[in-house]
Amino acid sequence: MTNTMSIPTSLQWKEDHLLILNQQKLPHIIEYLELRELSDFYDSIITLKVRGAPAIGITAAYGLALSSIQSDADDLPSFMEEFNVNKTYLYSSRPTAVNLGWALDAMERAVHKSTSVNEAKTILLHTAIELHSEDEVVCKQIGEHGLQLLRDKRNILTICNAGSIATSKYGTALAPFHLGSEKGKNFHVYACETRPVLQGSRLTTWELQQSGVEVTLIADSMAAHTIKEKNIEAVIVGADRIASNGDTANKIGTSMLAILCNYYNIPFYVAAPTSTFDLSVDSGDRIPIEERPPEELTEINGERMAPEGIDVYNPAFDVTSHELITAIITENGVLYPDFKESITGLFTFANSKH
Ligand code: MRU
Repeated sequence: MTNTMSIPTSLQWKEDHLLILNQQKLPHIIEYLELRELSDFYDSIITLKVRGAPAIGITAAYGLALSSIQSDADDLPSFMEEFNVNKTYLYSSRPTAVNLGWALDAMERAVHKSTSVNEAKTILLHTAIELHSEDEVVCKQIGEHGLQLLRDKRNILTICNAGSIATSKYGTALAPFHLGSEKGKNFHVYACETRPVLQGSRLTTWELQQSGVEVTLIADSMAAHTIKEKNIEAVIVGADRIASNGDTANKIGTSMLAILCNYYNIPFYVAAPTSTFDLSVDSGDRIPIEERPPEELTEINGERMAPEGIDVYNPAFDVTSHELITAIITENGVLYPDFKESITGLFTFANSKH
């Protein structure tokens, strides 16, 4: 039987503002926020009201478009001066997900085609809308490739939320489950809670519940035991930045899962759009890792859990070595080792499409 439950989404463009699902409040409160000012966009990204590499990029693109539309500049050079300041400001919101810079650079390339302020404003809004809708197509393609790869498997483990609400729709790592559910293929997903801010527990379980996918929540520390006891057949995760050798930055805890997959001899898959690859970094050692406020670790829902004055280390991401990755699922197909070669091939193919 096919499933008719709905896949949630988190971003809607509304002519003069961006409406976002506030991911800070999920799952108990379904709250939508209207982003109108440049600072609303910056704040929503840095405070994780909107999060996930592709969703951050799309949000920043709308922020740049909207702030440009609001500009009073009457000549192109002063318009571009404001544009560059706003771009730099949005770019500084989060460092690890390359999709942020990728989307802002796409906006910059587009605006350079304009010959007047009015034309620039139109082009920028169209480009943001295009990035938003292209991402849905890309995620669906990732889902189809992922579904094909996972077709003989049922019990799959994931971390964080690389889902529909982290993208335009469908997600990356969760896309095969949403598409599978639509097509009558029933997966059983094990979601790591994803400390410290619980994107797995709050977001992935909620999202999969909404679309009718069977999901079981575990604490991150239960992964090894669960892989062994619950016949986990594969792990699939998203990515925030992939170096040209295949090293992958993703939510903290990901590399631990890859090491477990290696030990238990099960596949470890990364699902990501081509926009998540960063050919300017040749290894994961050069990917900037965001460190977030200590309160994410010392408090739960505003309540202090750790002693006052305690030293805290809170990196939001880690890097999984390419040697531990079985395959990388993209919209353009599935990449296998040697990743240096297959990633070069991916870009040759992707560039030939444009
Ligand atoms: O800190 P977050 O919640 O933005 O981290 C998100 C992740 O690590 C995701 O796995 C990644 O961005 C891919 S989202 C399709």
